[in-house]
Amino acid sequence: MEDNKQILYGVGALFNSPSKVKEVAHKISQLGYKHWDVHSSYPLHGLPKAMKLKWSPLGYVALALGLTGTLTGLFLTYWTMSVDYPLTIGGKPWFSFPAFVPVLFELTVLLASVGTSIVMLFVLFKFPNNRHPLHNSDYMNKVSVDKLGVFVESKDSKFDRDFIYNFFREEGAEEIVEVYFDSNDLVFKPKVFEPKFIVFLIVVALVTSFVSYFVNNKLPYMPPFDFMANQFRLNPQKASDFFADGFGMRTPPRGSVARGQLIYPFKGKPEEAGQLLFNPYPPTKEIIELGKQKYNTFCSPCHGWLGEGDSHLRGQFPNPPSLHTDRVRNWTDGRIYHVIVDGQNVMPSYASQLTEKERWAIVNYIRVLQRSMNAKEEDVK
Ligand code: HEC
Repeated sequence: MEDNKQILYGVGALFNSPSKVKEVAHKISQLGYKHWDVHSSYPLHGLPKAMKLKWSPLGYVALALGLTGTLTGLFLTYWTMSVDYPLTIGGKPWFSFPAFVPVLFELTVLLASVGTSIVMLFVLFKFPNNRHPLHNSDYMNKVSVDKLGVFVESKDSKFDRDFIYNFFREEGAEEIVEVYFDSNDLVFKPKVFEPKFIVFLIVVALVTSFVSYFVNNKLPYMPPFDFMANQFRLNPQKASDFFADGFGMRTPPRGSVARGQLIYPFKGKPEEAGQLLFNPYPPTKEIIELGKQKYNTFCSPCHGWLGEGDSHLRGQFPNPPSLHTDRVRNWTDGRIYHVIVDGQNVMPSYASQLTEKERWAIVNYIRVLQRSMNAKEEDVK
C-alpha cells in the first residue's frame, strides 16, 4: 500500500459520429481484442452485432433459479398437501395439480427475479465494490454528455499502446486519452458490514419503530385525533344517562316484529292452520312450474316423484304415507302448508329452506299430482 504507483488502465478514443463508432468497434472485434468496450449515453442500434457480443450469462442464471423455484414449489405443495397434512378438498385428489399452479408460478417468478438481481449485483457487479478506474475520469465525463467512446484495456493480451494510438488516429478520433489507476485499488477490499453502515441500519430501525409505535399507540389518543377513542357510546354492563331509566339498551316495543321475522302463529296447531290459512297464489303455469321444481328438490326424496310415498332413500328414513289418500286430498291448502312449515312427527320442518311463495307453490303442485292420480271423465273433455 505504501508505494501507490499509477498503472495504465487503457487507452480510449472519443468520436462524434455513431456510425464511425460502429465501424471502429467492428474493426477492433475483427482484430481479436477481448477486453474492450464502447461507451455511449444512448443505445446504438447494431452495436452489439458490430462488437460481436455474446448473450449475457444472466439468462441462464434466471432459468436455473426459476426452475429451482418451480421444483421447490412442487415439493412444498406435494409435501404439505399429500404427506404432512393431507386434506380432502371438494373430493379432489390430495395432489391436485391445478390448485398448485399459482404457488409454483409465484415461487418461479420470485426466485428468478430476486435471485437474478442478487447474482447481478454481487457477482457480476461485485457490489459493494463500486470503484472503477473509468469513474470520474475525463473520458467518462465526455462520453456521458455528447461524445461516443471506444476503450481498450491494457490487460488485453493483444494490447500495444503505440499500435492502439496509431489505429485510433487513423480512424480519425477526436481525442485520444490514457486512463491510469492507483495500484492501491488492486488490493482495495470493501466490507459489506462497515461500522458506519451498521450504525446507519440501527438508526433506521430505531426511527421506524419509534414512529410506528407513536402513530399506532399514542397519536390516536391525542386531540384532535382522539375522536374515535373518546366518542359517545354505550359500554356493556354500564349505566347510561341518556335514557331516564339509566338502561343503555332498549327492549323493542311490545308486539313489534322485525322485518322478515314474522312468527308462524299456528305452531303445533294444525287444525287452526287448516281453517285460517288461505292459499294466496292461484295455480298459474309459473307457480306450478316453481312448485314442481321445489317439490322435486325437497319433497320427492321421501315422497317420490308423484307423491306415492315411494321414497328414493331405500329405507334409510321411514317411508311417508301417500299424498293421494282421501285424508290429504280432503285437507285444505292451509293444512298441507302447515306440514311444510311445522313438519309432522318424524318429518322435519322445511320452513328454513323454502320461502312462503315456494311453500304455496308446492301445495299447488301437490294438488296437480292429486288430480292427475284421480282423473275423472270430465277432465279429459
Ligand atoms: C325426510 C323425508 C321427508 C321429506 C323430505 C318430506 N317429507 Fe313429508 N313426510 C315424511 C314422513 C315420514 C311423513 C309421515 C309423518 C308421520 O308419521 O306423520 C310425512 C308426511 C307428510 C304429509 C302428511 C301426510 C299424511 O298423510 O299425514 C305431507 C302433506 C307431507 N309430508 C308433505 C311434504 C312436503 C310438501 C314436502 C316437501 C317440502 C315433504 N313432505 C318432505 C317424510 C318426508
